[in-house]
Amino acid sequence: MSGLLVAAYPWIKALHIVAMVAWMAGLLYLPRLFVYHADAALGSDKSETFKVMERRLLRGIMHPAAIATLVFGAILAHTPGLVDWHQYWIWAKLGLVAGLIAFHLLLARGQRAFAADRNIRPARFYRLVNELPMLALIAIVILVVVEPF
Ligand code: HEM
Repeated sequence: MSGLLVAAYPWIKALHIVAMVAWMAGLLYLPRLFVYHADAALGSDKSETFKVMERRLLRGIMHPAAIATLVFGAILAHTPGLVDWHQYWIWAKLGLVAGLIAFHLLLARGQRAFAADRNIRPARFYRLVNELPMLALIAIVILVVVEPF
């Protein structure tokens, strides 16, 4: 089993990165849709179109991409000789991943609120939180590539 994991390592890492890019695209784009949706009049064509876009983005791309990122990441974490668990970068990375998962779940809650015309947050709020996944992405890539500590 461990020989198989080592042999498959480059493929698993490639799939991990592809899934991560799709997940991040959703985490960056969905709050941007919320920014415009928050300013659209309730019941307008625009508002109804945003509802369809948000639902499809979340269910069609973000949920599957998040699961694939986590599953391939977990497989990499079990590949022998890859991660030195005494180093701190991997734990810092996992902490940031937990933050991204929490952010994802908050966006899913936001999508349900918009779908039911119950959103109470202003566009400015979504414009601000929109920056968070980008900061997490920069930190995670530096952690996994540079392994600074
Ligand atoms: C449960 C969640 C995750 C786990 C357990 C995990 C684990 C890992 C492991 C063990 C590696 C291999 C490191 C190596 O080759 O030395 C890796 C690579 C990578 N991960 Fe993750 N990961 C997770 C989520 C994420 C997320 C959410 C992102 C980005 C937002 C990400 C970005 C990357 C990148 C860019 C690489 C390639 C690094 C390189 O080429 O050396 N990972 N991951």
